[in-house]
Amino acid sequence: MNKKLLLSCAMGISVATGTGWADNVPALEPPLQLSDTHIMQKIRTAARYLLLPVQENEENARVNVVVDNHVKQTFNIRLAGDKVDYYVPLDLSTINNGAALLDIVFNANRRTHGNVRDFTCWKHLKYSETFDTANREKWRPLYHHTPPYGWMNDPNGMFYKDGVYHLYFQFNPYGSQWENMTWGHSTSKDLLHWTFEGEALVPDALGTIFSGSCVVDMDNTAGFGKGAIVAFYTSAGTSQTQSMAYSIDNGRTFKKYSGNPIITANIPDFRDPHVFWHTETGRWVMILAAGQEMQIYTSADLKAWTYESSFGKGYGCHDGVWECPDLMQLSVRGTNRKKWVLICNINPGGPFGGNATQYFTGQFDGHRFTCEDSGETVKWMDCGKDHYAAVTFDNAPDSRRILMTWMSNWQYANQVPTLQYRSANTIPCDLDLYEHEGKTYVGRRPSKELIALRGEPVLKTASTISKQFDAGKGAYEAVLDLRAVKSGRTYLTLENSKGENVKMAYDADIKLFSVDRTQSGETDFSDQFKAVTVVPVHRSLSEVRIFVDKSSVEVVDGEGRLSLTNLVFPNEPYNKVSLRTAKGSKAYITIYELKP
Ligand code: FRU
Repeated sequence: MNKKLLLSCAMGISVATGTGWADNVPALEPPLQLSDTHIMQKIRTAARYLLLPVQENEENARVNVVVDNHVKQTFNIRLAGDKVDYYVPLDLSTINNGAALLDIVFNANRRTHGNVRDFTCWKHLKYSETFDTANREKWRPLYHHTPPYGWMNDPNGMFYKDGVYHLYFQFNPYGSQWENMTWGHSTSKDLLHWTFEGEALVPDALGTIFSGSCVVDMDNTAGFGKGAIVAFYTSAGTSQTQSMAYSIDNGRTFKKYSGNPIITANIPDFRDPHVFWHTETGRWVMILAAGQEMQIYTSADLKAWTYESSFGKGYGCHDGVWECPDLMQLSVRGTNRKKWVLICNINPGGPFGGNATQYFTGQFDGHRFTCEDSGETVKWMDCGKDHYAAVTFDNAPDSRRILMTWMSNWQYANQVPTLQYRSANTIPCDLDLYEHEGKTYVGRRPSKELIALRGEPVLKTASTISKQFDAGKGAYEAVLDLRAVKSGRTYLTLENSKGENVKMAYDADIKLFSVDRTQSGETDFSDQFKAVTVVPVHRSLSEVRIFVDKSSVEVVDGEGRLSLTNLVFPNEPYNKVSLRTAKGSKAYITIYELKP
C-alpha cells in the first residue's frame, strides 16, 4: 500500500475531527519498555475505543488486557512495525471505565528488526469515540454477507426465530487474517441484508471459540428457558473440547455453561459440533468431526451426551481433515420418500485443491448413519474452489433446509487482496434431493429470496452475440437459457475493458460445465488461485443462473444440479458478455441488475 493510500485509510477510520485524529480525546501516555520484547501501555480514557494499528506482514504480539491486576482478555495482533495497513478497535466500554494496562509481548524474532520501542504503532495508537466501518474495499460484495471489518471463516450456529435469521461466524476482531477465534454475529430478515450485531462468544480459559451450531430449545429440555437458544462450539485450547452456552434474549448475548467442557476425547482434531432434534427417538443428536470420521452422540437435555457411533472409515474422500459436519433429512424430488444427508467438509482434498464440501446419502436411525453408496463413491456439493464449511440453519420456516457456506479456500484465504475485511458467505441455497441413474444427489437451489433483488433486465438477447451491458456496480444475475441447445459446446464469457474475464463452457455431449478464472483479474496473490473448475452435469441443462458480485461468480443450475462457486478479483466489473453455441443450437441470456 502506498503512503497516500495509507494516510487516507488512517483518516477514514478515525473520529471526524477534521485532522483525522481524535483532537478532543487526550493522547495516550508513552509506553513503558521492559525488555527487547516486552512493553506495557497504560490506558486511561473516557473514550469508547482504543484504535490499534495493524501491519499485516508483521508478526503477532500477544496482548493481555489487565484490569485491576487480573487478565480480562488476551488476544494476538500484528501491531504495526513500520507502516499502518488499517486499524482495529478495542472496545473499552466494558473495561473498567477505560482504565486498564496492556501487557504486550512481541515475538522474539522482532529483535532482529530493531527496538520494539521504535515501532510505529506507539505513534498511531489512539483513543476514539467512534470506529468507522464505512466500506473502503472495491471488492466488498453488495449482496453477500461480509463482516464490517476483520477476518471471517466458517458460518456458525445459524438459526431462525421470530422472523429473524441469525448467522454467527468465525471472526477475528483484531485483524483481517485468521486469529483469536470469536463468534461474530449478524442478523437478517431475508438472508440477504445483514446487520452486524457484534461479538457473541469470545475466547476464555478453555480456549478460542471454534465452529459449532445453535438450536432453539422450544420445550426447555435444558432448563435454560422455553425457546432458549443453545450454542455448541469447540473450545480450542491446549486440546479441543466441546462446550455450550445459552441465550435467553434470542441469541443477542450468551452465557457460557458452568459445566464446560461437555465432551472431551483424546483426539487432536475433535471439533465443530452440530446439534439437531431427532423427532422419531425424541432425542437431541450431535454430529462431531473427529479426525477423518464423524462421531454421533445423543442427549435428552443438551448437557449430558452419550456416544452412539462413528461414520467415515472406508467412505468417500479422505485426502484431508473432516470438519464442520451437518446431518439432516431431505425429501427426494418427485417422490414421497425421504433420505438422510451427512455433510462433511474436507480440507484439503477438494476436487480442485484445498477445501470442498462432500456429502453422503443414506439412512439415520437416531443412533447410526448408514451410507447407501459404496465406499469409493465421492459426491461433491460444489465443484468450485470457494465453497466450504457448508452448514444449514436450525428451525428454518416451512421445513426449509437453507445452506450457507464460507466463500473462500484455506489455500489463499489469508492472502486475498482485501484489507478492511476478509471473506464473504455464499448466496443462501435451499437443499433437497434428486435421483439420477440409480443414485441420489443433493439439489442446491438458490433461495427464493434472491428473486426479489432482480431489477429490470439490462440485457436480453440470443446467441450468437458479443455485447456490452450496464453492469451497474458489479452485482447482477445472468440467466442462461439452454433449452434450445441440442449438442456441442456453448461458450459464455464475461469480460471487462481491461480484458479480465471469466470463461464458462457447457458441453452438451459429454455433459460438463466449466468455469475458467485464470484471467479473471488479480490472481497472483497465490499460486493456487488460478484455476479452471469443471463439474459433470446430470442430464441436459435448461437454465443456468450466474450470480456475479464484486468478487465472486457463483454458477448454479436453476434445478440445483450444478454448483460452481469461485472468487474473482476483477479491477472493474465485467460488463461485456459473449455467447456462442454450436451449429443448430441456440442459447439466450438475460442479465438482471441485482439491487440489494
Ligand atoms: C474449518 C475450521 C473448523 C474450525 C474452524 C477454526 O474451516 O478449520 O474445523 O472449527 O475452522 O476457525
